[in-house]
This record gives sequence, C-alpha cells and structure tokens, in this order.
Amino acid sequence: MEITETKEQITAIPRIGDVAPTFEAVTTQGNINFPADYVGKWVILFSHPADFTPVCTSEFITFAHLEEKFNKANCQLVGLSIDGLYSHIAWLRTIKDKIEFNGMKNMEVKFPLIEDISMEVAKKYGMVQPNESKTQAVRAVFFIDPNGIVRAIIYYPLSLGRNFDEIYRALIAMQTADAFKVATPADWNPGDDVIVSPAGTCGVAEERMNSNDELECKDWFFCTKKLEKDTVFDEILKK
Ligand code: BEZ
Repeated sequence: MEITETKEQITAIPRIGDVAPTFEAVTTQGNINFPADYVGKWVILFSHPADFTPVCTSEFITFAHLEEKFNKANCQLVGLSIDGLYSHIAWLRTIKDKIEFNGMKNMEVKFPLIEDISMEVAKKYGMVQPNESKTQAVRAVFFIDPNGIVRAIIYYPLSLGRNFDEIYRALIAMQTADAFKVATPADWNPGDDVIVSPAGTCGVAEERMNSNDELECKDWFFCTKKLEKDTVFDEILKK
C-alpha cells in the first residue's frame, strides 16, 4: 500500500483530563457560552455529520427520547454539525412532524444544536477528521464534567450510528467512580460489583487477603465490593 503524505492541517484534539476548550455559539435554543453556562453539570457535547441524513436522524430521535433520562443524571446534551441555524430548525421540525424510528415518533429535540458553518467549534474539538470527511464532522462524543474537564471521548465514523445505552452507561459509571471512589469493570452496569483501588502497601495487601467482610478479593490487587443499584442512583439523582 502506498502511503501518501497529507498536507491537511492537523488540529489538536482535546484529551482526557484537559480543560474543555471554550467557545461561544449560536444554537437552536439561543446563544451559549461553553462550558461556562454548564458549570455544575455534566455535558455530553456531540457532533453529527449533517442535517437531513438518515443515520443522524435516527440518532437525534434516540437522544431526544432519552434527554430527560440524561437530565435526571445532571447531564445536559449539546449537539453540533457543520450546518446553519435554519437548516437545523427545518430538520428538527421535520423530525418532530414526520419521522418515526424504532417506535419513537413526534420527538421534539429540546437540547441546543450548535450551528457551525465556520467549523470553528468542530476544529477546536477535533471533530473534523479530513481523511474521513473534509466538510462533515465525524460522530464525536465528549463527556465534560461539572468542573469543565474532558473525562471521556468516543469517536465513530460517518456510517456508524452510536450506541446510546453505552453513552448513558459511561456517564453513570464515571459519576459512580467519582461519588464512591471506585472503578468499574468490563461491561459494568449499575447494580454490578465495583472495583476497589489496588492496595498501596504490603500491609493493606495482606489485610485484604485475610479478613474483610465488605471486599471480595480474588488476589491482593483484584478486589471487588457490592454496590447496590439503588445506592448508585440515590447518590447520582439527588444532584
Ligand atoms: C447519515 O447520517 O445517514 C450519514 C451522514 C454522512 C455519511 C453517511 C451517512
């Protein structure tokens, strides 16, 4: 395979742990100042390739259906594409009036959808990936915490619709990790056992392997404990 050098401008992508890049934008819900307007809340900032396209339409119907569930978990949704405001408005009206997907219909998108014809915001967040498309944003998902820090990032290509159960699971898992000072194992869902941080001293390692009613240790470095689903949601939903 021949490798050709690309002369595309390489834009920095915010990384996990970085302060979320700031911007002001026009949206379908009025102007926003990001992330200042969202301090104290989690935000899912996500991009889609274009209005009036089928995969994006299926995603917006799904996100609109789930919006209240995300809001209850102290999380606001903010969408973006490289389209203008009037295109956004026309598309969202069409979705509400005409499109049914997976049994969901008459879905009203109440969260802001950013117009970004200039690509200024998309470029700041590395949402334009020129070898995938020079004119459309890929399907990026940025999880930004209540302090304005980027906590997780997911990127999908244009053709692949996102899994919204996974987006919600990731949000709740990070909130659980923060609230209970634990980690979450593969495929974790609320109600499953959580991981206790590894022992930092030989003494603690020994202690963990001997008696501890709360912990179940497979080995000194691999200890889990129970965390009831109700306990998780009581903590998260009270915020
Ligand atoms: C879509 O949303 O259907 C789509 C958008 C861009 C490229 C491919 C599919």
